[in-house]
Parts: sequence; C-alpha cells; structure tokens
Amino acid sequence: MKPPKRIEPLIQDGLVDEVIRQLMSGKEAAVFVVRCGEEVRCAKVYKEANKRSFRQSTDYTEGRKVKNSRSARAMEKGTSYGRKVQEEAWQSAEVDALYRLAAAGVRVPKPYNFHEGVLLMELVTDSEGNAAPRLNDLLLTAELAREYHHILITQVVRMLCAGIVHGDLSEYNVLVDSEGPVIIDLPQAIDAAANNQASKMLLRDVENLATYFGRFAPELLTTDYGMEIWSLYQKSQLRPESVLTGCFERIEKPVDMNGVMREINDTLKEEEARQLYRAAMAR
Ligand SMILES: Nc1ncnc2c1ncn2[C@@H]1O[C@H](COP(=O)(O)OP(=O)(O)O)[C@@H](O)[C@H]1O
Ligand SMILES: [Mg+2]
Repeated sequence: MKPPKRIEPLIQDGLVDEVIRQLMSGKEAAVFVVRCGEEVRCAKVYKEANKRSFRQSTDYTEGRKVKNSRSARAMEKGTSYGRKVQEEAWQSAEVDALYRLAAAGVRVPKPYNFHEGVLLMELVTDSEGNAAPRLNDLLLTAELAREYHHILITQVVRMLCAGIVHGDLSEYNVLVDSEGPVIIDLPQAIDAAANNQASKMLLRDVENLATYFGRFAPELLTTDYGMEIWSLYQKSQLRPESVLTGCFERIEKPVDMNGVMREINDTLKEEEARQLYRAAMAR
C-alpha cells in the first residue's frame, strides 16, 4: 500500500522498506504491518495528543522523569516546547517499557526502534504467520482460562518486580500466539515506585484479568491476587518466583491479643477438665 505520511521518514531513513497493510486503527494509535528487509514487523504510529483519549491523564504520568531540568520546567509551564517534550516523553514511554520488560522476562513484542514517533516492533503472529488474535477474540475452556490467568498473574508480578504497572491491562491488550499470552500496549505504563496511583492501577489490572477469565472459570471471580501482590511489593518481599494463593486476609481491626489469649486459656482449661472427667470415669 501507499505508505502513510507518518511512516515516510522511516522509509527515507532505511528502517522500513514497504508498508504491507494497516492492521488496526485504535483510539490511540494506528498499527501497520511493514517489511524491513526480509522481516515482517509491526509499526505503531501514535495519534496526536488531542486525538487521544483517557490515557493522557496525569494519573498515568505522575512521577515520570524527564531527562533534563529545562524540559521539566517547560513542561510545568505548558509552553509549546514543553508540550512537545511531553508528547515525546509519552510516545517514548512505550519503547522504554518494552525494553525493560523484555529484560525482566515478561513476554512482550520485541522492540526494534523508536523513530519520528513510530514504534517498530516484532509482529506477534499465529502459527500461520497472521497477526495474532487478541485474548478477547478467543473462546476459552475453563482449563485454558485458568492456565492463561495464572501465566498473566505471573507476568504482572514480573512487571512489578521490574518497577512497572501496566495500567491498561485487559483482554484487549493481550495477544495470544502459539506459545500463549503476549502483553502489548504500554505507553501509559506506570512507574510503581514514583506514582501514587500505582496500587490503584495494579488492583484494576488484576481485577480486569479475574473478571475476563472468570467468564470461563467462575472460581477466579473470588480470587484476590491484587492485594496479595501489592502487599508483598510494599514489604519488598515480591519476587518473580513468589508463590501466591489468590487469598488475602483483610484485617479490618487491630487484633485484640488479650482476647485471643483468654480464648486459648479457656480452651486449654476445658480440655483439662475433659481429661480429668475421662480419667475419673475410667477408674
Ligand atoms: N506487536 C504486535 N503484533 C501484532 N498485533 C499488534 C501488535 N501491536 C498491536 N497490535 C494490534 O493493534 C491493536 C492496537 O494496538 P495497541 O498497542 O493496543 O494500541 P491502542 O489500543 O492504543 O490503539 C492491538 O489490539 C492488536 O490487535
Ligand atoms: Mg490497545
């Protein structure tokens, strides 16, 4: 097809040889299948800030660092240079997250390049080489739903161990290839340590997974992996290999230790009395 304007610079600079077809035009980006030499790849073209929807809210960008203080000041003042810096920071956040997550062992598309507002990455495919379906496009058995849920919870834990919360995780942002789920769509990724909304976002991501997979395996609806994961993270005890139960004991009131001790003593006394009684009867 005729290359869209935004991809022309990549063709001129020799990063892309041909645009094969448009894959999707979502709310925030248009995605194309492109040829780079022998390889077929995926090019994600970000829409301009004013055409994007919810994810530019400050909930997501809080705590993000920019490279120098001049940029930071310009962003705070909202000058046109500041807005340009902000826009570039937003767009490059996805490629940064992809590199960090790939290094942390999370299954994401392999990033190749970020150039002129276009992200070049691996095209995730099905066994026939076509663009892989989204989780939302599949009908799952209860068994497969449990397996994918488990895999994705493990991936969420790995992401958080690398300091990142996805922030928009759902059945629409997970592709499924022949080896299982691949997480995509990360321009809004959140810095877990620097952003006060991180716990809220993590709980929502995990809740979205339970709700989706719960359609196929209803027992997942009553799990509470989010609180379990966040509380381990807060105590610096979260590890990629942490074993989770899906249960989280919410302690509503401080525990009354005296009351607990009284109860234990009463039980012991009762048992003692029972034994004395039995001994007396046996005589
Ligand atoms: N690396 C990829 N491989 C295959 N398909 C992709 C890839 N990245 C995105 N897509 C397709 O493009 C759609 C939109 O991409 P996404 O990153 O979710 O952007 P957004 O939802 O912000 O528009 C996805 O739902 C998916 O179908
Ligand atoms: Mg998406």
